[in-house]
Amino acid sequence: MVRETNLTVDDLIYPMFVMSGEGQKVEIPSMPGCYRYSLDLLLKEIAEVSQVGINAIALFPVIPEHQKDETGTESYNPEGLVQTAVKAIKKAVPEIIIITDVALDPFTTHGHDGLVDENGSVLNDPTVEILAKMALSQAHAGADFVAPSDMMDGRVGAIRQALDNQGYINVGILAYSAKYASAYYGPFRDALDSAPKFGDKKTYQMDAGNSKEALKEVELDIAEGADIVMVKPALAYLDIIHQVKQNTNLPVAAYNVSGEYAMIKAAAANGWIDEKKVILESLISMKRAGADLILTYFAKEVALMLM
Ligand code: PBG
Repeated sequence: MVRETNLTVDDLIYPMFVMSGEGQKVEIPSMPGCYRYSLDLLLKEIAEVSQVGINAIALFPVIPEHQKDETGTESYNPEGLVQTAVKAIKKAVPEIIIITDVALDPFTTHGHDGLVDENGSVLNDPTVEILAKMALSQAHAGADFVAPSDMMDGRVGAIRQALDNQGYINVGILAYSAKYASAYYGPFRDALDSAPKFGDKKTYQMDAGNSKEALKEVELDIAEGADIVMVKPALAYLDIIHQVKQNTNLPVAAYNVSGEYAMIKAAAANGWIDEKKVILESLISMKRAGADLILTYFAKEVALMLM
């Protein structure tokens, strides 16, 4: 009766992986219980997910090597995997909110989120132009929200302008505003085969030691037109979630990332922790810190627990 914080299924956004082909459901080794689905099976899974009360999914594509190139041109192919999937999901499960990922790393041979020059430096502004094209193609397919996850400067403003110019005034932007260059993303990069082939992401993602910078990044994204701001990862950054919440009236999301998921699954598989209790305690801590929404690979499990 006097509990201050509650976790409900309405708080959850379920990240899901789509791949090409038919009749395929392949478990991700470092993320037990998470799968790459071909579109036909993904549609079935989304119907189930919706039935257990989840309102929204975040969609990530697994792009085959032969469709990758230096500049990620496949990312804005109107008939690409994501665009095709969005159209099919909208038809099959119209009530589910679709959030599409706007970043180049699944589409580039080098695995970086941006264009790379001859010295291996990631180029901000030319990348932003491609991100705007990619977001437009996703909006055109029917995405409800686009979610720039790359941390290039100025991308939220460029995407907002591109969407508005083409009449997509109702497509929202979920901005990965304070995204840290984190080792917790390892299992996700396995899932997508998207680990960077050289260097790291520290020139565009944030340093774990910084919190004022997070507030600055959030402020910029809001000024540029973000509708929801996100902190990522979640558990090691609860203080950042808290500070961001204090500094904005926009909804704040937290991304309970792949490494956080993998650690709980691994310990539970060894019988070292009580999996269900640790999941719920982790997610409630994110809400208590200030998250209004949580992207989590536990979404379906938690929805079933809360039923
Ligand atoms: C990249 C992207 C990453 C994640 C979501 N989008 C990884 C990265 O920045 O290298 C990580 C998600 C997770 O670990 O669960 N655009």
